[in-house]
Amino acid sequence: MKVEAATLTRKVGAAVVSLGFLKVLASRIHEWFETPKRPYGDGSVGSAYDDWTREGVLEHYWGEHIHMGSYTPMDKQSGYRKKDPFFLALFRATFGRLKDFKEAKIDFTNEMIDWSRATAPKKILDVGCGIGGSSRILAKRFPDAEVLGITLSPQQAERAGKLAKEQGLTNVRFQVMDALNMEFEDNTFDMVWACESGEHMPDKKRYVEEMSRVLAPKGNMVVATWCERDPVPIFTAEERKTLNFLYAEWTHPYFISLNKYKEYLEGTELLEEVDTADWTEQTLPAWRHSVWVGVWSPWYWIKVTLRKGPGAFIGFLREVYTLEKFHKSMVSGLMVYGMMRAVKK
Ligand SMILES: C[S@@+](CC[C@H](N)C(=O)[O-])C[C@H]1O[C@@H](n2cnc3c(N)ncnc32)[C@H](O)[C@@H]1O
Repeated sequence: MKVEAATLTRKVGAAVVSLGFLKVLASRIHEWFETPKRPYGDGSVGSAYDDWTREGVLEHYWGEHIHMGSYTPMDKQSGYRKKDPFFLALFRATFGRLKDFKEAKIDFTNEMIDWSRATAPKKILDVGCGIGGSSRILAKRFPDAEVLGITLSPQQAERAGKLAKEQGLTNVRFQVMDALNMEFEDNTFDMVWACESGEHMPDKKRYVEEMSRVLAPKGNMVVATWCERDPVPIFTAEERKTLNFLYAEWTHPYFISLNKYKEYLEGTELLEEVDTADWTEQTLPAWRHSVWVGVWSPWYWIKVTLRKGPGAFIGFLREVYTLEKFHKSMVSGLMVYGMMRAVKK
């Protein structure tokens, strides 16, 4: 009897220790995920995009566009649903009519061009051009225009030029240049385009001022950027924590609200017809769609993991974690997909 009691005590003790260990392990893993790994710093944006361009995973899954796609309500109906269990989501994705992930980005770009109100620009500047997906669409839509894309990443500029050459485009080129210190004269471009580059700018006011400065009279400016909500009511501690993560995981110094951007645009006193719009709804599916494309077609990231080791796999898990945090923040209203357009006086 005594022996049995001793065994039972030992077993219970072992179970308690194991549970305690698992709890500590889970909390350490959670803490590790919650600690941002790519904070903004000197040179961090250019080198992060250099790394992503070299690695090739982003281009493989996202194509030529490093921005959100656009989805109609019908696309959303036919795609995955929030509450679909995994296999049903997989089934719907395989046999359903879910919009093509890359096609959604091309649609977004065309919708942004239409929304810009530009009709026949002759000189177009793409501020923060990535590997030039939007620049090339602009060059095709406006074949008489000269398009120039600028980025902080030499790898992106090189890749963008290569893709333009492969596509036989002669009216688009790319350059490494800081959007906050542009080497252009005032009033140079009759269209200034910026798609999801404002997030990385350490000085949003200067970003807006520089773009307004180089825009020619009667020229069109159009900007798409992730914004945080207005700071009233004051952010809760939980919201602040989430925002800090969203800033520092993908080398963003900070975000501002769409209203703050509007204030900056109007504050230049160079612009008229300043207009903003919230495109959160049509871009929302893109966050989770980014994850699903990797699930449906895992071979590329598996290949990269085999080449680079398990660290690469953990890196992909972090991207999934971050995409889901952005999705949730867009749903809760903590974040907003902001659009702006204006005309130079
Ligand atoms: C999310 S990507 C968007 C790329 C592209 N607009 C697209 O839609 O595919 C952000 C881009 O902004 C660029 N960027 C960030 N800060 C910049 C700066 N200060 N000057 C120039 N480009 C910048 C990055 O180099 C990168 O190409």
